[in-house]
Amino acid sequence: MIETPRLILRPWKDSDIAEFIRLTNTPTVMEFLGGVLSPEAMRESCMRAFASQEKNGFSFWIVERQRDLALLGFCGLKVGSAGPITGEIEIGWRLREDAWGQGYAREAAIATLEWAWRNLACSRVVAVTVRANTRSWGLMERLGMQRRRDMDFDHPDIPEGSPIRAHITYEIGRPTCAEP
Ligand SMILES: CC(C)(COP(=O)(O)OP(=O)(O)OC[C@H]1O[C@@H](n2cnc3c(N)ncnc32)[C@H](O)[C@@H]1OP(=O)(O)O)[C@@H](O)C(=O)NCCC(=O)NCCS
Repeated sequence: MIETPRLILRPWKDSDIAEFIRLTNTPTVMEFLGGVLSPEAMRESCMRAFASQEKNGFSFWIVERQRDLALLGFCGLKVGSAGPITGEIEIGWRLREDAWGQGYAREAAIATLEWAWRNLACSRVVAVTVRANTRSWGLMERLGMQRRRDMDFDHPDIPEGSPIRAHITYEIGRPTCAEP
């Protein structure tokens, strides 16, 4: 479990799934993620976090607000599985819409990166999004991540012609003073 001034990041519990779907499977939150998904497809994607936690000791963790334990969404790490980021440590985030614009994603992401430098031997962490998702790449830039145009790619799981197929890639290197 990770604590920040306002948030808790923790592994998923079974009871989080329905709440996460209720709060985040909305047209606005899912705009650049393929739109609202069926509950089955959402459940399947949540289960990947359970599997990642079990296998790797990290995942896209649940983000809870400390003051009322409200579930805000997820932020965390996974092992990248597409194109040039395959095998890389990837940071990702998804918050419910009413939690945007308050610096929660940034606070959770900073804590996630600190966790990565402390607990993993990786030399960098990457992030991907689509060009139109300005909030997501804006956060990458606010975190000090650098655009890696040479690592942009078409996502193999997304059909040709889809506006969310072309992915842009950012990376941040391990701070020189941070030993694993
Ligand atoms: C991407 C996403 C997590 C970004 O969330 P966010 O709330 O915009 O990001 P931040 O936490 O950095 O918040 C930044 C905003 O909070 C404001 N803010 C308010 N209080 C703040 C504080 N204490 N500290 C920092 N920023 C604060 C900033 O001024 C900024 O506002 P602005 O965007 O109007 O300039 C969110 O839009 C999201 O969940 N999107 C849908 C899912 C998605 O697309 N995920 C990414 C897939 S690649």
